[in-house]
Amino acid sequence: MSSSSGAKPTRYLRDHRAPEWRIDAVALEFDLDPAATIVSARLDLEQQVAGAVLCLDACDMDLLEVRVDERALGRDEFSHADGVLRVPGVQGRVRLATRVRIAPATNTTLQGLYTSGAGEHGFLITQCEAEGFRHITPFLDRPDVLARYEVTLRADRARFPLLLANGNCVEQGDLGDGRHQARFIDPHPKPSYLFALVAGALDNIEDSFVTAEGRRVRLLIHAQADVIDGCGWAMQCLKQAMRWDEQRFGRCYDLDVFHIVATHDFAMGAMENKGLNIFNAKYLLASADAATDDDFRHVLAVVGHEYFHNWSGNRVTCRDWFQLSLKEGLTVYREQEFEADTASRTLRRIDDVRLLWRAQFAEDAGPLAHPVRPARYSEINNFYTATVYEKGAEIVRMLATQLGRDGFRRGLDRYFSRHDGTAVTVEDFLAALGEANAVDLGPWLAWYAQAGTPTVQARGHYDAAARSYTLHLRQSTPPTPNQPDKQPLPIPVALALIDATTGALPLRLAGEASAGASERVLLLDTAQASWCFLDVPAEPVPSLLRGYSAPVRLDLDATPDQRVAQLRHDSDGFNRWFAGDAIARRLFAQTLASGSPDPATLQSWCSALAAALDERELDAALMAELLSLPDAHSLSGELADIDPEAVHAGRSALESALAQQLHARLRARHQHNATTAWSPATAAAAQRRLRNACLALLVRADPAHAALAASQYAQADNLTDRLAALAALLHADPVRGAALADEFASRHANNALVLDKWFALQAAQTTPAALARVTELTSHAAFHWSNPNKVYALVGTLAQRNQRVFHRADGAGYRFVAAAIARVDALTPQVAARLATAFGAWRRYEPGRRALMQQELATLRAKSGLSADLCDILERLLA
Ligand code: TRP
Ligand code: ZN
Repeated sequence: MSSSSGAKPTRYLRDHRAPEWRIDAVALEFDLDPAATIVSARLDLEQQVAGAVLCLDACDMDLLEVRVDERALGRDEFSHADGVLRVPGVQGRVRLATRVRIAPATNTTLQGLYTSGAGEHGFLITQCEAEGFRHITPFLDRPDVLARYEVTLRADRARFPLLLANGNCVEQGDLGDGRHQARFIDPHPKPSYLFALVAGALDNIEDSFVTAEGRRVRLLIHAQADVIDGCGWAMQCLKQAMRWDEQRFGRCYDLDVFHIVATHDFAMGAMENKGLNIFNAKYLLASADAATDDDFRHVLAVVGHEYFHNWSGNRVTCRDWFQLSLKEGLTVYREQEFEADTASRTLRRIDDVRLLWRAQFAEDAGPLAHPVRPARYSEINNFYTATVYEKGAEIVRMLATQLGRDGFRRGLDRYFSRHDGTAVTVEDFLAALGEANAVDLGPWLAWYAQAGTPTVQARGHYDAAARSYTLHLRQSTPPTPNQPDKQPLPIPVALALIDATTGALPLRLAGEASAGASERVLLLDTAQASWCFLDVPAEPVPSLLRGYSAPVRLDLDATPDQRVAQLRHDSDGFNRWFAGDAIARRLFAQTLASGSPDPATLQSWCSALAAALDERELDAALMAELLSLPDAHSLSGELADIDPEAVHAGRSALESALAQQLHARLRARHQHNATTAWSPATAAAAQRRLRNACLALLVRADPAHAALAASQYAQADNLTDRLAALAALLHADPVRGAALADEFASRHANNALVLDKWFALQAAQTTPAALARVTELTSHAAFHWSNPNKVYALVGTLAQRNQRVFHRADGAGYRFVAAAIARVDALTPQVAARLATAFGAWRRYEPGRRALMQQELATLRAKSGLSADLCDILERLLA
């Protein structure tokens, strides 16, 4: 046995070496039993470097036997310690066989082979990314070792009627004495992190899909009997995703069967195992009564995401984990585009930008900042971050903007065909995209290598006599840990010039014979540059970074009137929101600085929103977003010495002022948007979104609107409206709200996912007393420290989404969360480490809270027996 404590040694990108041994073929046999599973492996190995000793990764297992070319080795012919099985004295081509015993029932880490669910309903399931396979069998557990797998599963038939592994099932049979077996062959060479197996008693729904290449594919979704009814939406999403990837990117599915399995016990969203995706039930199940409209969208997005990995990740994989964003950034981008094409482009973009600002900009501004392609890591699990995923997707989006839709498609086609079946790097990706378009994308590597959020400063000058408008752009990036000096990056700035009377102007740059389109993309690839536009009849309103064309902070000296004009008239829906958001932030800053916002700006902002509310054609989802202020964390993004009480007071004051000004219209819209019968369609969901945004503001304008919330709760025929009504009532009338919350809990007592929302809603209450309630809820019968969904709903919501209560001045929030982290670390280290990142901004708080957080972190760090995952985060936080 070997398990670790304390941080792992640091690995460096610059030290990467090609594998010294390769594995062509793998035959695995599992004698499955929750208490003790026997795994027999036969590896066909080939030495790549003369003299290289064979070292296999092998953690947390009892090694029963090692054979080389059929001969059992003596104890002195190999060693097994510290997670490594060393077999000196072998060379060339060898067939190595191992037999090990592992214990899934006591594995609480949610990686390797573990059990999901308790008692006779429990089933066996795996999670191998990033380094879980080494907990199942000795292996070269690195993504650049690609092998063909043949897998045989044996288990008790009554308890484990369903047996699944990657690829096609080629044989099934009875073994007598109550056991049965199934054999699977996956024809596609794959890295070990994509291995999966599932065994248990699960129901399924089945459908089929015929690919553009004419392959008929069986589609199966497996889930426990009590939730199988919630899988229909995911099946529809899967078929849409398969068709979309064919049409948009020419990518077809490549096996005869595609399985998805739902589990409640999962550390992340979902996993793209070849032909056998495994999903956190939270991102798979969706029905009117048990999922919100946002859940329906998330299911669409995550089903798409995992499916798209079949090309961006599986067929073409990563050479090493430093390249993680190669698959994740690209796949998030593909997922974003899928949702944008299938549901609402503007809403998805606003969601992504809000997330980027809240999570990624925050990460980039603190001690955990790292490049999209990190240069070093200790625990790779800690690099599944907003930077790798969301900023990585933004880089891909910028490349797509720069190359144009067709050019980007050409580039991706080149990437997939050139590297199919191999493990590659970011350089390979840029080279394929560049060569297919005859451009050098070398400079873009800097986006992958340089951490930190660039600021683009924009200054416009209108020359009335010359009828010209000159735009000066300047970029800079602040220092981050290990990277004091920053280089200029290629930044695509999509822009339009808006004329208040005629709309977006046709654009003509100095040196051009005539005007072209009204939108174009400028590339700022030096520290500063200027562009001069001609034939501009009057001072225009600059609409910059349209669609948020680059992940930067924009410093634009627009006047409030210009911002309001943009909010009113910009032809890009996203930029209308962007302008509104900028106004709200300015008003908030004024409130913090002087106690109240500038009345004239407040007035014109509210008038612009009122006018938008009267625009009948305006997308209801966009309107809802225009009415939703940035949250407290996002508003604190650029503050130093953050005082959470001041942030809360300032934000609340602004929200109430907005609500009071718009009061009559909000009421009308709330009434007018009362939905008829529920449907999951995008337009219907947008109506509900707007209605609930109105309700949230109405209770802030006047607590008397509690009655409105109560009646919406009583009449709701879907979870979105019911939950929004409950949230509004909790705000307007906490006593009645609490009673209704009890009603909600008993109504949904049998649905773990809905109860998670109930936990989260209570953990999001901003009254300081919420902490006592959250503490009490950790003893609730439905709360389990071993279940990540529960821990994130309660502790995660408090720590990551409730600034005022987590950062209570008395430090009680910190103590609660630190104790929770220690407790979770003993069960699921990955989850503990993720929770600990909530302390990432500790140095940006006012001195009192800063000291309290530092002390809490130091106390935690001093505990013995912490996981490598948690140690790594704590050390970086305190460094
Ligand atoms: N590759 C998964 C994705 O689609 C992420 C993932 C799932 C993961 N489970 C994990 C990463 C466990 C680390 C550990 O994004
Ligand atoms: Zn992914």
